[in-house]
Amino acid sequence: MTIRTYIPRRGRVSKRQAAAIGDADGLLLPASEELLDLVEVFGGLPVVLEIGFGTGSATVTMAATAPDLGILAVDVHTPGIGDLLYRAREKHLKNIRAIAGDGLVVADQMLLESALAGIRTFFPDPWPKARHHKRRLVTPANAALLASRTTVGGFWHLATDWQPYAEQVQEVLDASRQWTGGVIPRPTDRPVTKYETTAIHQRRKVTDLWFRRTEVC
Ligand SMILES: C[S@@+](CC[C@H](N)C(=O)[O-])C[C@H]1O[C@@H](n2cnc3c(N)ncnc32)[C@H](O)[C@@H]1O
Repeated sequence: MTIRTYIPRRGRVSKRQAAAIGDADGLLLPASEELLDLVEVFGGLPVVLEIGFGTGSATVTMAATAPDLGILAVDVHTPGIGDLLYRAREKHLKNIRAIAGDGLVVADQMLLESALAGIRTFFPDPWPKARHHKRRLVTPANAALLASRTTVGGFWHLATDWQPYAEQVQEVLDASRQWTGGVIPRPTDRPVTKYETTAIHQRRKVTDLWFRRTEVC
């Protein structure tokens, strides 16, 4: 996996974010090349991988409303990791863990086949320029990787404010025998994310897409 779907950003880490990272109390797992035992980490709960949670405000709200679901939240951006950890601690959540790293690398190196009940990808970086399309998170290779880590019947819920990207998601996953689904009405239980707030303010249409992991014989 050589093409990054993000630009590494430094970003200022506030005192609150640094303190939350320093005192993560087991909520922050190290990125590593070793397999992660999700059963041990989440006590047997079905686990959803969220790739690219940003500030984690929606992630934490969803984790709080579904305590019977484990959330493995992965992002590369350090200030956002601090925000997520702060919010999770504030709500005393037990069903959330964060990893600072590339969600695709985590899926590839740390997760067993069929380990996940689902995947969430809300507002992946749109990479609008044609020469950057190869950086988009939803590609045939990444769709196959994530399918291999998702149990049959599991889901991949995506949302984007970039219509051509919504079309690409549909095309890529239509071409995959491992996923079936498409555009859905915005689920009422999906909180508005930080990025989405800006998209709404700038009057961009938001599209939710939902795919199910199929059984491929
Ligand atoms: C446009 S932001 C959206 C953030 C958040 N989901 C929201 O809606 O507010 C995209 C996020 O994805 C993260 N990201 C991009 N590629 C990633 C990857 N391969 N693994 C983990 N995080 C990634 C970026 O760091 C960024 O925080």
